[in-house]
Amino acid sequence: MEKKIILSGIQATGNLTLGNYLGALNNWVEMQDKYDCYYMIADLHTLTIRKDPEELRQNTLSLIALYIAAGLDPEKNTIFIQSHIPAHPSLSWVLNCYTYMGELNRMTQFKDKAAKHADNINSGLFTYPVLMAADILAYNADLVPVGDDQKQHLEITRDIAERFNSLYGETFKLPEAYIGKVGARIMGLQDPTAKMSKSATNELDKVLLTDTPDDIRKKFKKAVTDSENKVRYDREAKPGVSNLMSIYGIIKNKSMEEIEKEFDGQGYGVFKTAVAEAVVERLEPLQKRYNELLENPEKLKEIYQKGDKKAIEKTDKLLKEVYRKVGLVVD
Ligand code: TRP
Repeated sequence: MEKKIILSGIQATGNLTLGNYLGALNNWVEMQDKYDCYYMIADLHTLTIRKDPEELRQNTLSLIALYIAAGLDPEKNTIFIQSHIPAHPSLSWVLNCYTYMGELNRMTQFKDKAAKHADNINSGLFTYPVLMAADILAYNADLVPVGDDQKQHLEITRDIAERFNSLYGETFKLPEAYIGKVGARIMGLQDPTAKMSKSATNELDKVLLTDTPDDIRKKFKKAVTDSENKVRYDREAKPGVSNLMSIYGIIKNKSMEEIEKEFDGQGYGVFKTAVAEAVVERLEPLQKRYNELLENPEKLKEIYQKGDKKAIEKTDKLLKEVYRKVGLVVD
């Protein structure tokens, strides 16, 4: 049987957090044997917010290094740069003509970002979900691993695909969101009611994948908990402790009950130290591989060029089919 197709991507906005790793990359690694996986660096999406050009270029390369350091095998996965694949912006333009202003107006991420960047509400920010739809539909992806915040974008992708299919006949596969286990939502260490974000201004709220072991220990020591002093899972009443338990559970592959038992009768001090050490232990080899890769830009280039080639081969036929169906002259 043919393997199902997975596609996902992360924007090239610099320093990823432990949340990105446990919520996304770590799950991707688990899928590489079972599925035909395409993972891109969403650099075109990154342009919707003003970025320093050199920084964006550097972040793109660092993110590729991080994908591989996190365990994505470039032999098993197609790892590529979005802007290198002509089908993404080309298909996006066509799909723009089949997407309504009213639909895009409902996107909560657009509203959030427009409020946050009121000085630069550009049309790219508005049509961001259409480019994302093109990313996904161009590969006929079955499953799209994303966080909760991207679910609405998956829904609009399906709506656009269905509309196109009903007008021109079966063309696109309808993709489904693949929400990972607990990992889908790692919360901030200072505000455990909000997702851990790379843009958080309070450094203590986020663990960066490039943090030193001492920084990591310090951040977990200062993590917000509660006054019960009992390691018990309850997202509502004990968001801080529950978040730490999730982090520990993913890394150690343990259930919440097992963790409750392990720390039964022990206070938060012991527990926090254990979580910090688990994170340090997991990130140390990752950081080592990451730094080695960054010192070898030729190797990185070889990896993404190989991925780019496969991605172009994969998408070219469908793009032509779409062009033909809407009435463009093909060949
Ligand atoms: N919008 C996604 C995010 O910010 C990144 C992304 C771009 C993506 N294109 C995609 C994710 C296609 C999944 C599939 O998280």
